[in-house]
Amino acid sequence: MSLPSINHMSLPSINPTTTMSWKKLQEHFKSIKDVHMKDLFAKDMERANKMTIKWDDFYVDFSKNRITEETFKNLLELANEVKLKDAIKSQFSGEIINKTEGRAVLHAALRAPEDANFIFGGVNVMPEIYKVKQKIEAFTNEVVNGYRKGFTGKAFTDVVNIGIGGSDLGPAMVVDALQYYKNQLTTHFVSNVDGDHVNEVIKKLNPETTLFVVVSKTFTTQETLSNANTIKDWFLKSASEDAIAKHFVAVSTNIKNVKAFGVDENNIFPMWDWVGGRFSLWSAVGLSISLAVGYKNFDSLLQGANKMDAHFKNEDFETNIPVVLALISVLYNNFFEAESEAIIPYSQYLNQFATYLQQGIMESNGKSVDRNGNPIDYQTGTIIWGEPGTNSQHAFFQLIHQGTKLIPADFIGFKESLHGNQDHQDKLISNFLAQTEALLNGKTKSQVIEEGTSESIIPFKVFEGNKPTNTIFINKLSPESLGKLIAMYEHKIFVQGIIWNIFSYDQFGVELGKQLATKILQEFNSDSNNKHDSSTANLLSYYKSSS
Ligand code: F6P
Repeated sequence: MSLPSINHMSLPSINPTTTMSWKKLQEHFKSIKDVHMKDLFAKDMERANKMTIKWDDFYVDFSKNRITEETFKNLLELANEVKLKDAIKSQFSGEIINKTEGRAVLHAALRAPEDANFIFGGVNVMPEIYKVKQKIEAFTNEVVNGYRKGFTGKAFTDVVNIGIGGSDLGPAMVVDALQYYKNQLTTHFVSNVDGDHVNEVIKKLNPETTLFVVVSKTFTTQETLSNANTIKDWFLKSASEDAIAKHFVAVSTNIKNVKAFGVDENNIFPMWDWVGGRFSLWSAVGLSISLAVGYKNFDSLLQGANKMDAHFKNEDFETNIPVVLALISVLYNNFFEAESEAIIPYSQYLNQFATYLQQGIMESNGKSVDRNGNPIDYQTGTIIWGEPGTNSQHAFFQLIHQGTKLIPADFIGFKESLHGNQDHQDKLISNFLAQTEALLNGKTKSQVIEEGTSESIIPFKVFEGNKPTNTIFINKLSPESLGKLIAMYEHKIFVQGIIWNIFSYDQFGVELGKQLATKILQEFNSDSNNKHDSSTANLLSYYKSSS
């Protein structure tokens, strides 16, 4: 089967399993699948040095993986065979690489310097981007400095971001992660259509001093429009219609719908079709980030991402952080048959990082049709999950250490603590290092015996080890380093999508549920009965009878 509408592919479309390197990897896998990493380290004293990438303030050690130099070579060959270099070029040059939606993918332009060249449709998009950036900066300064006032003449104290998915997760994660750099404004996020969410947030607000930022690329999203309307109704109980212009701003590509909602034209921050929702925090979608930490910090976040873009674009694959992490992940996903990957930041500030990456990674690479329109018979997107250490050690680490599943994990740590509690920091980092060491080495039977364990308990205390981890050690959590880290994962997503021969930038899989929910909602409010399976029909009438 082929897709007639996407004949002129700008991305290569090579089934990875047909490549020479894939076949080599299949063969090679037989020789590495039972090798213990302990032995690889024992054989090569230089292993850690060879398998570490030092770049800027990043120290990325990928030596604790079940790979040899030959594995790595084969993986690099795979990247070449699927024409990754060409694909990177296509993305950065504004080609319509999101073929299924007919869109370019230019989030990298959002963090590029003003004199950069990102051509889309024959036009450089940079001037437009900088116009919006200036608007974000001016607006941020007015609000943060208290020059912009609410309808009773008071300065703003609270900001509410109303959005969902990419219009919520990115800003919410970054505002939480950069709370050390925050100003006096309190930032709230309303996303779920669950009315209890919006009501709990409303409880904390004073309409006189709250600014509402409605964020929706399409401005058609049920959750966001419902929450925005509920908030507007609540606001109008204490203010008049003309106060809306002072308190409501919107970020969207759909200017018509924003105006119809009642937002003043001057309060609209445009975005573009070529920014995917889950890659949009760099655009005006990041307005609440800018408001929370100030424009300068927002700009540093963007500059960090831009540095990672340059690294990704220019660095040779063997020392290219996103490429190397993506290739290793492909090895586990497609050869070791690992189903999930854990993200473990040793920083409470990154509490929402795994949740944020879940959308980025799973919405992008959860696909089962290739770029030729054919069903796929190999594994694609991994399941992403995680929580900060050390909390996660006391929650799910048991399963990673001694369970039956192979769960490769990224350990992310920062050398410096922001508040400078050296005692806590030393304890935190000792755990950070100890866990990857324990996962690598495990504990042998003789070690358990040496500890004086009674005979019958010995098997339960043995750890096999050989559990893979990447260590991403960064000097300090700052807006710039966070920008680099997020961009690193964005590029990892892209590389994996290229290798798996899928379109990473659409998300048709979320549509069906939305369509059915609309139909079911109509049934709540009328006597119409659509055709349902008996389970759904029973549940529906159960709900109707009790509500
Ligand atoms: O979940 C599907 C999705 O389209 C995401 O990709 C997007 O981030 C989210 O909905 C919100 O969309 P919008 O910004 O248009 O409201």
